[in-house]
Amino acid sequence: MNKKIEVFEVGPRDGFQSVKCTPPIATDLKLEVIDRIVAAGVRHMEYTSFVSPKAIPQLADAKEVTQAVLSKYPGLDLFALVPNLRGAQNAYELGLRRVCYVVSLSKSHNKANINRTHEQSLEAYREIRAAYPDLDIILDLATAFGCPFEGKYEDTSAAVKFLKDYVDAGMTTCCLCDTIGIADPRQVKELIGELKAAYPDLALMVHFHDTRGLGMVNTIAAMESGVTCVQSALGGLGGCPFAPGASGNLSTEDMIWMLNEMGYDTGVEFSKILEAAKFQVEKIPGNYSGHHIHIETPTPCKY
Ligand code: COA
Ligand code: ZN
Repeated sequence: MNKKIEVFEVGPRDGFQSVKCTPPIATDLKLEVIDRIVAAGVRHMEYTSFVSPKAIPQLADAKEVTQAVLSKYPGLDLFALVPNLRGAQNAYELGLRRVCYVVSLSKSHNKANINRTHEQSLEAYREIRAAYPDLDIILDLATAFGCPFEGKYEDTSAAVKFLKDYVDAGMTTCCLCDTIGIADPRQVKELIGELKAAYPDLALMVHFHDTRGLGMVNTIAAMESGVTCVQSALGGLGGCPFAPGASGNLSTEDMIWMLNEMGYDTGVEFSKILEAAKFQVEKIPGNYSGHHIHIETPTPCKY
């Protein structure tokens, strides 16, 4: 296995989007959490979404957050989620050159999440590529392993077939998102194996939710299949607002602990990311799956 692993934090997008509080989380507080994540050593982050504020009120301050992070952290890999051309345009006009374009493998989740058919989503992807050729676009494939409405996919070839049009349209990176935490390690290895065989030049990332505590083993399965960029959310905060029953993400601090202990070079300092998680848990109420809630900073074990 490659010893260098890129940790891609998604909490400020995937975590914050589902927090239910009024008034919404203050922009300054979001920025403080982001500062702490960056101070711990994280270099890759999805930090907001350019979506309808009616769909996701918690991220209505995408513009302000973008302006702040772009000026503070010009050297970081900063991404915002976009669902359509309008979102890409709003991001681009602020100077952002990296976005995650979301489409669901499941037709019903694509409809529930972004109110589009598969054909409309593909068309919008092509429009964005044509309008902004210099935009770095990760394709976030939501419900890649199963869907809240259609269940778990038995047949991994559906994802392989689905992505062909996107590869033909110029996709270079795809993130396999387990939106509801339904994946298992065998399925992860099978899907990645098939995708690598079909599209050898396609870079793959993974995004697991921790519904049944399988986020870690699924991440390891992906790494054993050659993936070197893995997503997680601070505190394990999360859940998809448009996927009933979706639980938290794999927590960044737990994942960092595992990877660092295994000798991987994550570039992230465990004690600092744990502090960031504790800060967030204290300040922002929400659905947390991280184990820091129950366990104090682990001391070295002698046994
Ligand atoms: N940013 C901000 N506002 C947007 C927008 C964008 N990228 N795209 C559309 N809108 C606005 C429109 O202006 C319109 O506003 P109005 O009601 O004030 O006139 C409203 O959103 C609806 O626009 P429409 O094009 O008809 O979209 P829709 O109702 O079919 O919804 C999405 C489509 C994609 C905009 C909406 O479903 C969405 O934002 N989803 C976000 C999903 C998400 O983030 N899920 C979690 C992450 S996977
Ligand atoms: Zn997620």
